[in-house]
Amino acid sequence: MSRDDANGDLNTVIREHSEWLANQLHAQRASLFPPDAAKTMRRFTSGEAATLLDVNDSYLRKLHLDGKGPSPEMSSGNRRLYSAQDLQDLRELLEKTARKPGDYLPGRREGDHLQIIGVMNFKGGSGKTTTSAHLAQRLALKGYRVLAIDLDPQASMTALHGSSPNTTCKTAARFTTRSATRTPPRSARSSARPISRIST
Ligand SMILES: Nc1ncnc2c1ncn2[C@@H]1O[C@H](COP(=O)(O)OP(=O)(O)OP(=O)(O)O)[C@@H](O)[C@H]1O
Ligand SMILES: [Mg+2]
Repeated sequence: MSRDDANGDLNTVIREHSEWLANQLHAQRASLFPPDAAKTMRRFTSGEAATLLDVNDSYLRKLHLDGKGPSPEMSSGNRRLYSAQDLQDLRELLEKTARKPGDYLPGRREGDHLQIIGVMNFKGGSGKTTTSAHLAQRLALKGYRVLAIDLDPQASMTALHGSSPNTTCKTAARFTTRSATRTPPRSARSSARPISRIST
């Protein structure tokens, strides 16, 4: 076999292997992140709901028996299970009779500025996104209105929130590419300002 033939064979083998590997990676990604993949948040026990709302469990039980507020799901053991939406509905109900405004529905009042929280660490893979996601979810469960924006092409924040990152990843990549290579147009700059960064 001539040297050229041997090189040709080697190239064919390498190409076959790389195609096989690419197909395997694609199949694995498709099974892990199907386009319609979405997680749903678990329900909260009455004890957890009471802690998050800062009320007694017995008070929540009374509201339920009186037919006030949302109807939680009943487990097989006849335990009340509240969804995140139920918690929000309870907050709105409790706020109506709160001692002072914001006891149950915290957040910005007239004239308050938007609060921006940055999670920083110069080291990669040190838990910045994980911390941001937990912080965003915890604050949302405590009744705050939270906006988490994922501008990272890795899209791990998006995945942590239960959405398939495929489409978002492209959008983020486009955004970061544009912002990295040239100054964004004035319209994009002004619309980006209030967002700032909640995750990196
Ligand atoms: N407290 C923790 N305990 C154990 N593992 C953690 C903890 N926080 C994050 N991790 C894990 O560490 C890995 C990196 O976390 P994460 O993606 O949040 O880091 P990052 O700082 O955002 O990374 P990058 O610099 O790539 O954006 C993930 O696999 C995550 O599950
Ligand atoms: Mg990150």
